[in-house]
Amino acid sequence: MPITVASARERLLAECLDEVGALKEAGRYRRLRCLEAVDGPVVRIEGRELVCWCANDYLGLSTHPALAQAAAETAAAWGVGARASRLLGGTSQWHVRLEESLAAWCGAEAALSYASGYLANLGTLGALLSSQDAVIVDRLAHASLFDAARGSRARLRVFRHNDASHAAELLSRARGFRRRVIVTEGVFSMEGDRAPLEELVTIAEAHDALVYLDDAHGAFVLGESGRGAPEAAGVSMDRVLYMGAMGKALGCQGGFVAGPAPLIDLLRNRARAFIYTTALAVPVAAAAVAALTVLRDEPDRRARLWSRARALRRRLGALPAVSLPEPSHILPIVVGQVSLARELAERLWSRGIWAPAIRPPTVSERTARLRLSVTALHTDAQIDQLARALEEFLSAHFKTSGDR
Ligand SMILES: Cc1ncc(COP(=O)(O)O)c(C=O)c1O
Repeated sequence: MPITVASARERLLAECLDEVGALKEAGRYRRLRCLEAVDGPVVRIEGRELVCWCANDYLGLSTHPALAQAAAETAAAWGVGARASRLLGGTSQWHVRLEESLAAWCGAEAALSYASGYLANLGTLGALLSSQDAVIVDRLAHASLFDAARGSRARLRVFRHNDASHAAELLSRARGFRRRVIVTEGVFSMEGDRAPLEELVTIAEAHDALVYLDDAHGAFVLGESGRGAPEAAGVSMDRVLYMGAMGKALGCQGGFVAGPAPLIDLLRNRARAFIYTTALAVPVAAAAVAALTVLRDEPDRRARLWSRARALRRRLGALPAVSLPEPSHILPIVVGQVSLARELAERLWSRGIWAPAIRPPTVSERTARLRLSVTALHTDAQIDQLARALEEFLSAHFKTSGDR
């Protein structure tokens, strides 16, 4: 019997309703929260003011007047949209300046910006890898890295989180492939811990392989001068394929890869997620250039972030169920069950604190959590408010530190 358009559509809608129903039943349904106003870490949602502990605006740059001014002036002079993909006519002088500034910041020959960090991973790994290659990815790597690795059609192997010897074992089993690439993150987005970069790079070099480093959460915040996870680990940039994001500590939007000129040149010509999409909006590119200037002129912002992170860690480190092995601006409170994570998030919400529950599939089964991200703009009073609310809840549900 021929399938009519109408019946296929009706079936699809019924299936959508079923799937959404199943998500609701499993406690995995998510809805968007609409921000009505933002003032540093304080946001207004549904008419209520809440302290936000879930944004990646680590240095508080997204609301910096210099960025807003750069974006506004550029929008007035250039318009908003880039009007085309980069190769087709969407490269403005702001894109060029941005890439020059990013390359200079990283001490690299060149850089390529993408419209998002997700696209940077997709584009770069997709351009560099094919079925002749092998990619060895940390088990807790970001979804975009897995999507990129799978999309590249390279042989995908997964190593235990931060287990360099497992990565080495998988590398040696992958002899015979043209390129072999270890993929990891500077700071893991849901764990807050760092990759053993020196070890991974040394292993990769010993196996004549490469390390692709997604430093979305480490770029501009880690290291003496903010040069990210490589600087913090004492690993020179040219020992990794370096990717960073501009939507997090830089307070803007977009992703980038920095490296030798021939690599960047190849990406411009091969990265589908760069070629077949409209360029980063011009005011955003201008704001990102301004953000790099602010970073240089206001180094105390990074110092403030780390003093806030230390203060929060001191307050939370002693709470039941909380295990914070290393200083980080991302602090996970892993409670295990989805229902408990939701209850905790709701309790905080009722106290004027916004820290949504993170559930599978974003994190593994039985590791539902809150993911707290601290910024340079959080105050002592806000840290105190959060610590008190968490203490009350966690003490009622867990007995000892690490007890889940
Ligand atoms: C580790 C990591 N890589 C890449 C991305 C994607 O970056 P963007 O948000 O700019 O697409 C994220 C963002 O959540 C991330 O956490």
